[in-house]
Amino acid sequence: MLSLVDRLSNLGHAGFMFRTQMERAGRCVLAAIRPARAADLAALGDFFAGLSAQSRYLRFFAPVTPGPDLLRRLSGGDGHTDAVVAVRGGVIIGHAMAADQAGTQSDRGARTTDIGVVVADAWQGRGIGAALVRALITGAQARGVTEVTMDVLPGNQRMLAMIRSHWPAASISRSDDHLSIVVRLPRREQQGAQARPAAVAYAG
Ligand SMILES: CC(C)(COP(=O)(O)OP(=O)(O)OC[C@H]1O[C@@H](n2cnc3c(N)ncnc32)[C@H](O)[C@@H]1OP(=O)(O)O)[C@@H](O)C(=O)NCCC(=O)NCCS
Repeated sequence: MLSLVDRLSNLGHAGFMFRTQMERAGRCVLAAIRPARAADLAALGDFFAGLSAQSRYLRFFAPVTPGPDLLRRLSGGDGHTDAVVAVRGGVIIGHAMAADQAGTQSDRGARTTDIGVVVADAWQGRGIGAALVRALITGAQARGVTEVTMDVLPGNQRMLAMIRSHWPAASISRSDDHLSIVVRLPRREQQGAQARPAAVAYAG
């Protein structure tokens, strides 16, 4: 089983960074997770272009390579999205994005954000996807988000395993060709004063 240790480092004006040390079968990976920014556009283009057709299909439900408009959105530059990247040796190896639902609260009385995540093929299965989602959810809870939604293709066993493992109480329903996932997050005031939001986010 994956052993995952997250450390939060304060990088001043550059924002926050999770340093995630992952060990699996004696191998150790160190990747930095930080907010995406406008200067990442070209690197994000390279990252998405370098993904296998299958990973792009699982992420976007089509084997598309994002063009300039989508890349700008993926970099979190549209004011409604929060995006984070995993970086190793100056190269982006993972990306995750939370798009807050515009307008009022959902009919479940929740403030909702919709998330998507993808990790470079060579780095999948080493804890990077889970760390990216954890960083996104930490940020979402800080904005007052109480519910996370995501769409997943039924055959995406790794993503479904991640959801079941980290959010056993997640609601999963079928809609057309995909599965709709809803995860209720504990409200921030319900967390203990010393609790780290990222750890609580996994409580389901
Ligand atoms: C889905 C994805 C983001 C997960 O990221 P990852 O870095 O590969 O996954 P992690 O190593 O963080 O593992 C997350 C969970 O997946 C499961 N998992 C990992 N490796 C697995 C494997 N080989 N087989 C089955 N499940 C596996 C585990 O439940 C793990 O949870 P754990 O932390 O309790 O061990 C990544 O595989 C990916 O980019 N896939 C293609 C794009 C995609 O499917 N995006 C999701 C659609 S929104």
